Amino acid sequence: MKIDKSKEPAKLELRPGLEGVPVTQSSICDIDGIKGDLKYRGYSIAELAQKSSFLETTFLLIWGKLPTSKELREFEKEIQMHRRLSFRVRDMMKCFPESGHPMDALQSSAASLGLFYSRRATDNPKYIYDAVVRLIAKIPTMVAAFQLIRKGQDPIQPRDDLPYSANFLYMLTEKEPDPLEARVFDRCLILHAEHSLNASTFSARVTASTLTDPYAVIASAVGTLAGPLHGGANEDVIKMLEDIKSPDQAKNFLKAAIKNKQKIMGFGHREYKVKDPRATILQTFAEELFARFGKDEMYDIAKALEAEASPMLGPKGIFPNVDFYSGLVYRKLGIPKDLFTPIFAISRVAGWLAHWREQLSANRIFRPTQIYIGEGERTWKPLEDRSIN
Ligand code: ACO
Repeated sequence: MKIDKSKEPAKLELRPGLEGVPVTQSSICDIDGIKGDLKYRGYSIAELAQKSSFLETTFLLIWGKLPTSKELREFEKEIQMHRRLSFRVRDMMKCFPESGHPMDALQSSAASLGLFYSRRATDNPKYIYDAVVRLIAKIPTMVAAFQLIRKGQDPIQPRDDLPYSANFLYMLTEKEPDPLEARVFDRCLILHAEHSLNASTFSARVTASTLTDPYAVIASAVGTLAGPLHGGANEDVIKMLEDIKSPDQAKNFLKAAIKNKQKIMGFGHREYKVKDPRATILQTFAEELFARFGKDEMYDIAKALEAEASPMLGPKGIFPNVDFYSGLVYRKLGIPKDLFTPIFAISRVAGWLAHWREQLSANRIFRPTQIYIGEGERTWKPLEDRSIN
């Protein structure tokens, strides 16, 4: 709609956090926050998590349809062929401080791909396909490489005989995972792959709308995901459960937190007013792993916290979100807690790339407005005439 600039501007209504403000149309993902329902391209998350693979779901999200077996085989093969990192990226990563957060390492490494593949042909389907393949293939290798580098080791090369998730766990832990571990991990990636216009996806779309390269799009989304109010919460959940120490302390912890207006990490969601369906599915994954490899006492603390929180926070529509149980699954897979958010990024890159393509298909640069509340016109004073205050 064209705005008639000759007329007085309409009174602007401030919507902090853009809550409830539609800024795009999308056909990628649908959330029913009241029923607790999530669908990717019309397919229910529960069905995908049970029957699909992460790469099939990635194909679905990005190209809008389930692949044929030939398309899937080709996509998997392409990804497998592009998993390696250039020695120059590995050498660059070796210069990162080992005490740095892996999300910062990932953001920098993802952005560096723009230096190697700098052509910006965002209207060329082959360029788009190649960028998708490269990012889906290389992001896990970057996460695993930084983990070994910060331990003083050389990164290990991907193994061509291992599928996507098994290969990532192998590169990270240096041992071939049990098939159950690889399957549970792959299903976790499916659950985290897309979630409509959350902060990092919005960030990706804003960056995409300038027609910059896809590596900058993904790097900006990774930076946004890192914050504790977004993807960074999964790491903080485990720290919180460690602080609570035992299930019988959950009630006291909760009361004190609510009294001090402190947020319970892994609880609450802008879209869901019921328990996040992904949290429920993640619980079943955690239980599958515990049944096979032994229980994690922290799961009892988490369940006690959820039970105590239900009467206190439930009436406000605050329930466990996806980050509440994911860390418990990753812990059981032997993954250090500061890698939980980078793993979220490995998965969400699928959703970000789907939104990148969608943004390009009907692009208009994002440029919202503001309500200015600063000073009126002021006269500049020379330095010597300014008072201390
Ligand atoms: N614990 C306690 N109270 C909460 C929580 C929580 N986790 N979340 C929201 N509330 C309360 C707020 O204190 C506020 O109460 P008030 O109205 O009495 O002041 C009310 O619920 C609304 O909270 P907002 O922060 O305004 O809700 P918003 O929709 O902006 O925030 C968010 C959603 C950021 C996810 C919030 O629930 C939160 O900070 N949760 C903890 C962090 C977290 O788990 N983030 C991961 C989200 S999922 C994801 O990004 C992958």
